[in-house]
Amino acid sequence: MSHIVNVLLIGAGEINFGSVEGPWNHTLRLEKILGSRLRVVALVDPDRSRATDALNSKLRSAVPEAWKDCALFPTVADAAASIPPQSVPHIAIVGAPPFVRGTDIPGQDLELQLVNAFPKCALFVEKPVSSGPEDPCWRVAQKFAASRTLVGVGYMLRYLKAVQMIKRIISDYGLVVMGTNARYVMAYEWARKPAWWDKARSGGRDLSRYFGGDVLLPSVVAHTVQHSEPPGRLSATRFDEGPIPAENRLPRLTSATWKYAGGAVGTLTHVIALHGTTYDTELEVYADGWHFKLVDPYSTPKLCVRRPGSAEVEVHTFTGDDPFYTELATFVDVVEGRRESEGVLSSYEDAIKTYELTWAIRRASERAAEDYI
Ligand SMILES: NC(=O)c1ccc[n+]([C@@H]2O[C@H](COP(=O)([O-])OP(=O)(O)OC[C@H]3O[C@@H](n4cnc5c(N)ncnc54)[C@H](O)[C@@H]3O)[C@@H](O)[C@H]2O)c1
Repeated sequence: MSHIVNVLLIGAGEINFGSVEGPWNHTLRLEKILGSRLRVVALVDPDRSRATDALNSKLRSAVPEAWKDCALFPTVADAAASIPPQSVPHIAIVGAPPFVRGTDIPGQDLELQLVNAFPKCALFVEKPVSSGPEDPCWRVAQKFAASRTLVGVGYMLRYLKAVQMIKRIISDYGLVVMGTNARYVMAYEWARKPAWWDKARSGGRDLSRYFGGDVLLPSVVAHTVQHSEPPGRLSATRFDEGPIPAENRLPRLTSATWKYAGGAVGTLTHVIALHGTTYDTELEVYADGWHFKLVDPYSTPKLCVRRPGSAEVEVHTFTGDDPFYTELATFVDVVEGRRESEGVLSSYEDAIKTYELTWAIRRASERAAEDYI
């Protein structure tokens, strides 16, 4: 690959350009990783004014050179028709909403449009892989395999130093994971973006799978506390949930368990309960003689480790660890051949399996709600 890295951005929204809601901002990381080697060749977004605003803010930013030739297009087809040969993208960052991608259905097939338009381009796709049924995602995965496209998915927590420390200990000591226990307790008071209250759950499942392995999907059992039940009444919401249809409103608590193919058991508790803004998130991993507890992976991760032969817990705190930076820096390294493809910790197939678990939990919880609520 040439010294210059041509990047195509899909989506002018928060994941690519940042938000006050969180630390995500792929373009900021790319600027840091690639510096003067970055060339953003185009930004595709049907929302012309949002794309224009995003580009203008970059042209005023610290690395205008990277952005000066960036063209705006409403569709991938328009970009493909106009991008000159020297600007053909090496990497596309797919930060569009999940309902326009992850399938082979026209209009919801961004990845396939990209593979057809730019066959040599590597794709970094945001999570979740889709918002529709799971089967079409597998057909997309088959197309990727056939075209030998390098794809990474943005499950960034896998790149945390704390997560990699657990992985390393498991590998060094030949441990067999016995169980995973993920807790994701949301502080809802200031979560006012209605999309966050629609049934799109986050957190927990992907890291559980990263340690537990493949899930036996029919084994998933789940129960919920629904918004309409007495324990599900929330007193501190600061937006009107009324316009969200009742059946789409998030359960206040979801408790799920499942069996992994390797024999371990997984547990996930997702709760919307806390006031203020500070979430309470934790992942535990158990193995013979060992207990790992990862606390607060989304801000300053802390890893508590209890080893065999000692009841004392060692605590490691990881300040300044930026998983968004590491996931993209790793992806760039793999694209440029400095690292093996195993460096990409979330492949498309693997991300589909996380997506399948999400659906299995949702379906199991909805079945249980029909029986018990
Ligand atoms: N990894 C993380 O922590 C993280 C954080 C935020 C968002 N995300 C993911 O990133 C994705 C985008 O989220 P967001 O917050 O940036 O959303 P957003 O709504 O802020 O922005 C999405 C943009 O995509 C554009 N778009 C819609 N259809 C398109 C198409 N066919 N082609 C190109 N652009 C199109 C929209 O006009 C919009 O500007 C979602 O899948 C979300 O889950 C991940």
